[in-house]
Amino acid sequence: MSTNEKNKLRSATWFGNNDKMGFVHRSWTKNQGHPDHMYDGRPVIGICNTWSELTPCNAHFRILAEHIKRGVYEAGGFPFEFPVMSLGEILMRPTTMLYRNLASMDVEESIRANPLDGVVLMTGCDKTTPSTVMGACSVDLPTIVLPGGAMLNGKYRGRDIGSGTSVWEFSEDLRAGKMSMNDFLEAESCMSRSDGHCMTMGTASTMACMVEALGLTLPGGAAIPAADSRRRRSAHLTGMRIVEMVKEDLRPTAILTRQAFENAIKVNAAIGGSTNFVVHLLAIAGRVGIDLDLEDFDKLGSDIPLLVNLMPSGKFLMEDFYYAGGLPAVISKLRDELHMNAITVTGKSIGENTEDAPLYNKEVIADQEASFMDKAGIAVLRGNLCENGAIIKPSAASPELMQHRGKAVVFEDYDDYHDRIDAPDLDVDKNSVLVLKNVGPKGYPGMPEVGNMGLPKKILEEGVRDMVRISDGRMSGTAYGTVVLHVAPESAVGGVLALVEDGDFIELDVPNRTLHLDVPDEELERRRANWTPPEHAMSRGYVHMYLNHVMQADKGADFDFLMGKSGSEVPRPNH
Ligand code: FES
Repeated sequence: MSTNEKNKLRSATWFGNNDKMGFVHRSWTKNQGHPDHMYDGRPVIGICNTWSELTPCNAHFRILAEHIKRGVYEAGGFPFEFPVMSLGEILMRPTTMLYRNLASMDVEESIRANPLDGVVLMTGCDKTTPSTVMGACSVDLPTIVLPGGAMLNGKYRGRDIGSGTSVWEFSEDLRAGKMSMNDFLEAESCMSRSDGHCMTMGTASTMACMVEALGLTLPGGAAIPAADSRRRRSAHLTGMRIVEMVKEDLRPTAILTRQAFENAIKVNAAIGGSTNFVVHLLAIAGRVGIDLDLEDFDKLGSDIPLLVNLMPSGKFLMEDFYYAGGLPAVISKLRDELHMNAITVTGKSIGENTEDAPLYNKEVIADQEASFMDKAGIAVLRGNLCENGAIIKPSAASPELMQHRGKAVVFEDYDDYHDRIDAPDLDVDKNSVLVLKNVGPKGYPGMPEVGNMGLPKKILEEGVRDMVRISDGRMSGTAYGTVVLHVAPESAVGGVLALVEDGDFIELDVPNRTLHLDVPDEELERRRANWTPPEHAMSRGYVHMYLNHVMQADKGADFDFLMGKSGSEVPRPNH
C-alpha cells in the first residue's frame, strides 16, 4: 500500500499523527501489548462480536474471534474486537425483535465512533444477523460477515431431531397424550448438543444463507457447522479477506445492489427459508436505499422451486446441507434465475464463486427438474383483512388448507389466547380460523413469534395437526403450519384485524393471493367507531422510542429515522 493510500484510512485520524492526540490514542491502546509497528498505517479492522452466554447460539464466538484475528494479522491488518448488544432468541423477553433496531444502532454508532477501516460482523442467533448488517450498512465501511454456524444434528433414540421444529412436534404430542413427560425431558438434552445456532432451516440458518446470497460472506460461509474445524478456518480466511477489502475500498453499497436483493429473495425460496427473512431483508434494503417492497418477494420468489430438503419444510438438517454442498450448490442450480454477475465480498461475482460448486447428495439438494416442491416462495396476500399485505409460507403449510373458508375464533391478545385456548367450552372445530390480535410491532410490542399458536387441546385430541391461523405477529423460522403472518396494518394501529369478531367468516385463498373478512363495510365502520387502541404498560425509555418510531411489517419494522445511512465520516475529536 502506498503512503497516500495509508493516509486515506480513517484510522490514521486517530493513530497517524505525532501530536498530543496521536500519543493518547496509541499509548492507551498499547496497554494491550501492541508493538509500535501495528500503528504504521495498516488497516484497522473491527471485529464486531455478538458473543454472550445469554445467547447460547453465539457462545463460541470468543474462540472464533481469535481465528479472525489470526487472519487479520496474517494479511497485515490490526484487529480490535468489540462487543455489541447480543440478541438471544431463547431467553430475551418479550422478544428479540423489540431490540433488533436498538442493536443495529449500537453496531452503527460503535463502528463510526471508533478508528476502524473495515468490519467483520460475527453473526449467529436470528436477530444478530440483520441487526449487525443493518447497522454496518448505515456506516458503509468495508464489511464482511462471519456466520457462526449451526449446531450438529440433534440425535434422539436413533433419529435426527431439529431445533424448534421437533419441539413444536413433541409439545403437541405431550399435550395430546402421545408422549410421556420423561421422554419429553430426555429429548431436550438430545437436541442441543454442540456449539452453534438452530440447525433447522429456521431464521438463523435463513439469515446465514441470506447474507451469503447477498454476497456478504465467503462462499460456503452459511452452512459449515459451528463444531467443524472448517468454521474456524473460515474465520481465519474472513479475517484475511477484510484487510484486502479495505485496500480495495469494497463497501456494502457496492455489493448490496438491487440484483443482490433479488438473488437473496430467489435463494430464500429455493431453500424454504423463514418468513422472518421478509422483514429483515426489507429493513436492510431500507438502510442502503434499495427500493424493495412486499410484492417483490412474491413476484420474484413464488415460482422458484424448493431445492433444499430441510426441516421445517423437509427432512434434513444444516449439517446434512453442508455435506451435500451447501449454498454454493443451490446457487449453482439457480444459475439461470439469478444475477450471476452480482459482486460479492471476494471481489468476484457470485457466478465465479460458485462455478464448480459440487453437489454430493440429491436427497438433500435437488436439481430443478427433481425439486421437492414446484413453487416454494413466500406468498403475499392482499384483501380487506390486510390492506398493506400479509404473508404465508406455502412450503410449510397444509395443501388442503390453502383455499379455506372458516369461522373466526378470536383472541384479543396473547394472554387471552393462553387463558382460553384449552377451555373445554371454546367454540371451535377443525375448520375454524384462529385469529390472534395485538401481537404486531406496536401491539405486543415487538412483533413476537407467536403467530404459529398451538391448536386447541380438543382439536389436537381429534388427531388434527393444522388449522388456519392469522395474526399480525411473526412465526419462528423453525415452525410450520397454515399460518398467515405480518398482517399490516396491525390491529394495534386500527387495522381491520382489530375489528374481527367471533363467528365472522374469513376466506383464505393462497393461489389467488387473497385474505378476506366476509363482513359488510357498514358493519366494519360500526365496529371501528367503538374501537379504542390498546394501552401500553411501559411508556418510558427505549420502549417509548420504539413505539413512537417503529414502522409496520410491510416496511421491515425498522425505525423511521434509521432509514438510509449517515456514512463513515470521522466524528469531531473527543478532547
Ligand atoms: Fe438461536 Fe434458534 S435460538 S438460532
